[in-house]
Amino acid sequence: MAQRAGTLDGVAVVPGDKSISHRALMLGALAIGRTRVTGLLEGADVLATAGALRRLGVPVDRQRDGAWIIDGVGVGGLSEPDTVLDMGNAGTAARLLLGILSSHDLRVVMTGDASLRRRPMARVTEPLSQMGARFDCAAGGRLPLTVWGARASTPMVYALPVVSAQVKSAVLFAGLNTMGETSVIEASPTRGHTVRMMRHFGCTVTTARGRAGTRVTVRGWQEISAADFSVPADPSSAAFPLVASLLAGSGAVTVRGVCLDPLRTGLYDTLAEMGANLSIENRREVSGEPVGDLVAGAGALKAVAVPATRAASMIDEYPVLAAAAAVANGTSRFDGIGELRVKESDRLAAVADGLARCGVPVRTGDDWMEIDGSGGRPVAGAGPDNPVATLHDHRIAMSFLVLGLASRDGVAVDDTAMIGTSFPGFVPTMQSLGAPIGPLTDRKDQPPGDRP
Ligand code: S3P
Repeated sequence: MAQRAGTLDGVAVVPGDKSISHRALMLGALAIGRTRVTGLLEGADVLATAGALRRLGVPVDRQRDGAWIIDGVGVGGLSEPDTVLDMGNAGTAARLLLGILSSHDLRVVMTGDASLRRRPMARVTEPLSQMGARFDCAAGGRLPLTVWGARASTPMVYALPVVSAQVKSAVLFAGLNTMGETSVIEASPTRGHTVRMMRHFGCTVTTARGRAGTRVTVRGWQEISAADFSVPADPSSAAFPLVASLLAGSGAVTVRGVCLDPLRTGLYDTLAEMGANLSIENRREVSGEPVGDLVAGAGALKAVAVPATRAASMIDEYPVLAAAAAVANGTSRFDGIGELRVKESDRLAAVADGLARCGVPVRTGDDWMEIDGSGGRPVAGAGPDNPVATLHDHRIAMSFLVLGLASRDGVAVDDTAMIGTSFPGFVPTMQSLGAPIGPLTDRKDQPPGDRP
């Protein structure tokens, strides 16, 4: 449970970026030689990737100093696992790995927790089938599924029908073990880690702008060279202490070394439009990724209209933006957010339900949301007798704990166990800044993701 915050102050240490951590392990696995990764996110999602790669015959180990060592087996070098790959809650891991597996001559069974088993996989199995892989999925194109990777996959040019970095990346990963050139055309740009990281690992990847959008092309059967990698802090996780700081009574919070891919920073652009006391300092490059330090301080916020064109650059940040909108001055509107319905939970519904429980007026449609802000006054809140339903979704839990810092009666959430998928240490980190969070209502009696 989170109570109204007075001063929040200090430096928040935020774990490594989730998107980059998955990709660092996967590219390390496909490289020739030894890759050393520092700053890896040791959350459940990324540990699921590490576990799956081990089952596929890749030595992946954590050293005493916290660095991770991957002894790459080379493109095409994965071996058939003798057990099911359980990807837990990790949608990115599942979809990117399917891309890799689809061009390996292997049979693999993949599953995940209750949330992942509900998420659409056809968005990757369709293009990967066109390249020659075969899939046998549960009803509705979902997990569990069996993939038979192609013995000799066929290159293709794929125009993305959904704005998704995961789909783009799955096809490009498949292209690595496909003779010839595989291209993805994205009409609307998405996060660029896959391309930047493939280049960091020595691959030739080209991009060209055309009328239909940006065409990204990878040449198959090139050698990937092991490369050390330092993972920057996750802007999606940094959002929680930073928005908390905006909502507090006073003080300032700093998060250092945050990944600033322009296709990840839509939240920060939006907060700036809201008049937030927020600055980015010390911009630099780390392992090919743009990085900077973010500083946020308490202050008034005004309502904002977020256009659909910005959705890809802040797709994981709408829940925490909703917390900021709830205390802003005026009515905020988010458009083009239908993809939120197929994340770890139906986040559009979960946010709307949580806000309503906290006494915040909210209206939604298929792919939009409107929130009437309190004009700087605390929102009512949701006590332990009527806690916010997180639907076992890490970002819903953290977002509403942040909103609790600007509430009259506090906000309780029905579960916190899933926070560990992306931000282990969230509660102590927030407490170290002075946030009154805890004790937590946490149902530990059933395994995460399989709870009703
Ligand atoms: C991710 C892409 C996004 C995002 C997810 C991570 C990635 O999903 O929501 O948390 O690492 O490529 P989509 O690309 O499917 O929108």
